[in-house]
Amino acid sequence: MSKKFKRTLITSALPYANGPVHIGHLAGVYVPADIYSRYLRLKGEEALFIGGSDEHGIPITIKARKEGVTPQDIVDRYHKLIKKSFEEFGITFDIYSRTTSEIHKKTASDFFQTLYEKGEFEEQESEQYYDEEAGQFLADRYITGTCPHCGNKNAYGDQCEQCGTSLSPNDLINPKSTLSGSVPVMRKTKHWYLPLNKHEAWLRQWILEDHKEWKSNVYGQCKSWLDLGLQPRAVSRDLDWGVPVPVEGAEGKVLYVWFDAPIGYISNTKELLPDEWEKWWKDKDTRLVHFIGKDNIVFHCIVFPSMLKAEGTFNLPDNVPANEFLNLEGDKISTSRNWAVWLHEYLEEFPGKQDVLRYVLTANAPETKDNDFTWKDFQARNNNELVAVLGNFVNRALVLTQKYFDNKVPAAGEL
Ligand code: MF3
Ligand code: ZN
Repeated sequence: MSKKFKRTLITSALPYANGPVHIGHLAGVYVPADIYSRYLRLKGEEALFIGGSDEHGIPITIKARKEGVTPQDIVDRYHKLIKKSFEEFGITFDIYSRTTSEIHKKTASDFFQTLYEKGEFEEQESEQYYDEEAGQFLADRYITGTCPHCGNKNAYGDQCEQCGTSLSPNDLINPKSTLSGSVPVMRKTKHWYLPLNKHEAWLRQWILEDHKEWKSNVYGQCKSWLDLGLQPRAVSRDLDWGVPVPVEGAEGKVLYVWFDAPIGYISNTKELLPDEWEKWWKDKDTRLVHFIGKDNIVFHCIVFPSMLKAEGTFNLPDNVPANEFLNLEGDKISTSRNWAVWLHEYLEEFPGKQDVLRYVLTANAPETKDNDFTWKDFQARNNNELVAVLGNFVNRALVLTQKYFDNKVPAAGEL
């Protein structure tokens, strides 16, 4: 379906502020989004490019606890580092903000409240592990125990890293809280759920019929989610790091990070354009495009659109170009295993060579399948393509311009 739009709002996934950014982030999301933004601006089109850090969620609280600092300390450190790396690599965001800003907390809180008042949530009670010594509910990652599949004694409540099986905390043998070491007990808790099952019919029509032009990896993932049937999803958590749930009786509960983070796109637009932001989100002539990695597809194609639809006044994305992953020397990039080329380290080792990396990552972009980054390929592309081919072309053009045209490029049509 090709509709004529007047302007384009481009978003790029908000990276978690629990570590630095690496070449996989750049290749999959930020360079493609930046190229697209620059292209539209060059054509003289009205475009806005929104970025920011995702500063809530469990991994941040875990890292803070390990280091004996506060979650705010962690996100302050990485937000600064990530922002600087993007600047140095010439990613031309119109704004790069963060989800701990006051304007974001208010925007996310109000968004929840609107859906709550419209009756768009379902309340459900469930039993969750609770640490009586620490006095709090335990996220899956805060519980360890023995893996029922391979016997690993240090499996997490969401996954066993030894055999790779995904788990639920109830699967663990001898579960233990990593907060206090005590044996957790089951306790009742109440949460708010977004009933995705009720959104299934329009989602099927909107994606499977009206957006057949989406990239096949994106379309295919959506189709398999939809064919499996959607379930209600909890949008709150028992946790003390995040945006408080703005409902009476919800003390100690925050919005689930995947509920508040995409609202960050809206908050950051508001922060940049306090008087004009609605034009970018609600005007039917504005085209919304989300650049993301493949692990974010369900959130941007199914969950966030359902939130926007439930709210009722926002545009839905016109396209969601998701890329596959970039591997490094044949291995999956991993923050926890420290297997990555970190952007701040590249900048130290190759100062001034940002465009070389941007070129290599673009030439080898993981658009339709996972691709591999190797230093050998980096060297070859630099020497053979940039230096030999492009360098030679530029050199010849300059020499001929000097020799025959008096150092001036003739205007088009002049010859
Ligand atoms: N922080 C998430 C990730 O790195 C992406 C969040 S995108 C947003 O996978 F839409 F939620 F902001
Ligand atoms: Zn295991």
